[in-house]
Amino acid sequence: MNENERALREQIFERVRAFYQYKYADGVPPRNKVKYGGRVFDEHELVNLVDAALDFWLTAGPNALNFEKRFAEYMGVTHAALVNSGSSANLVAISALTSPTLGDRRLTPGDEVITVAAGFPSTVAPILQNNLVPVYVDINIGNYNAIPEQVEKAVGPKTRAIFLAHTLGNPFDVERILHIARRHDLWIIEDNCDAVGSRYKGKPTGGFGHLATVSFYPAHHITMGEGGCVLTNDEQLARIVVSFRDWGRDCYCEPGEQNTCGKRFNQQFGTLPFGYDHKYVYSHLGYNLKITDLQAAIGLAQLDKLDGFIKKRKANFDKLYQSLLGFQDRIVLPVATENSDPAWFCFLITVRDDAGFNRNELTGFLEESGIETRTLFAGNILRQPAFIDTPCRKVGNLINTDLVMLNTFFVGLYPGITDEQIEYMAESFNTFFHRK
Ligand SMILES: Cc1ncc(COP(=O)(O)O)c(C=O)c1O
Repeated sequence: MNENERALREQIFERVRAFYQYKYADGVPPRNKVKYGGRVFDEHELVNLVDAALDFWLTAGPNALNFEKRFAEYMGVTHAALVNSGSSANLVAISALTSPTLGDRRLTPGDEVITVAAGFPSTVAPILQNNLVPVYVDINIGNYNAIPEQVEKAVGPKTRAIFLAHTLGNPFDVERILHIARRHDLWIIEDNCDAVGSRYKGKPTGGFGHLATVSFYPAHHITMGEGGCVLTNDEQLARIVVSFRDWGRDCYCEPGEQNTCGKRFNQQFGTLPFGYDHKYVYSHLGYNLKITDLQAAIGLAQLDKLDGFIKKRKANFDKLYQSLLGFQDRIVLPVATENSDPAWFCFLITVRDDAGFNRNELTGFLEESGIETRTLFAGNILRQPAFIDTPCRKVGNLINTDLVMLNTFFVGLYPGITDEQIEYMAESFNTFFHRK
């Protein structure tokens, strides 16, 4: 970059910083409006975005590569592949396990994948989209993760994989799930979309499974607007993931590269003529789920803030938890999984059956008070219109899953929530409980 360009860019950035100050800087949120999640940013995100716009690379480029490298390091894994959403990450992760290049280890139609029905739809949908069969197990009330005994019980002759989320940032019982997977030779995918920064026995979640996924949608721990990532420590899986993301191509040149393998015009594939351009050889029925360099540029600024964000989420959790301790006769408070240190995504509450009020009365009151609430995503996914008639196997009756659908909800903890807002939430709960 020459001096003139540098100077021009700096002038533009100065204006962008001024714009940030003008439009966003004194955005102290009102005490009595508490969103469940949202983007938290300053002028650095805006400057990075404009810088990337001026580069006009547009598709995944230097910022994406830089983000992948830094994020892999942060998460303690060897490979991170950016995609355009957490849902795409889930689709790519499960699709990767169907790759013919895995030989006998690959998933084939009819193979079973153990998961939960109390979760996000795009953890389960890609299982079905790959003609695999979900096997649903129930969850614990309190930590809202798969019951390990049920996971063990779910394993049958066709079971080949376990695909579980760390529910709202609370890690599943990693040790027991890994143990089951090893004993039965199962693949493990961690849906880590809500759990960036959570730890199990001191290690970040997202590094335990063969594959893990992340979302950068605004409510999550860091954001790019839309965005996601697939993590792995396995070189072969990393290559397959990138292939599924990038149209199914066999070539693995980074953006802007031409002949990484050194054999671009020198190989035999399928029944193509010898030496057919490797850049146009397709070894998978892939997608295009790539991100733009503008999104990655925002992500880089967010990554600098991630430790602070996690700290604030934990502090918000602790404050709200302390303020609700006295109401445990009416509500179940969230329980961190043993040996874990969750970077909580949100604060889950289950209204007890004998509370004297129901979930909707409480959430109705909170919503009227300006406090956003959400249910635990799909509730019982098997009761959702899209999933009712889909193939599956179930362990037991999913009693707790139904209970969660009826009695559970969450409120926000994201770093944009101030101490005053947490106090307001506590007061609002207090008011409701004292009226009932
Ligand atoms: C557990 C879980 N998995 C997957 C996703 C999908 O992520 P995205 O919205 O980026 O597609 C979400 C979304 O919030 C989620 O909570």
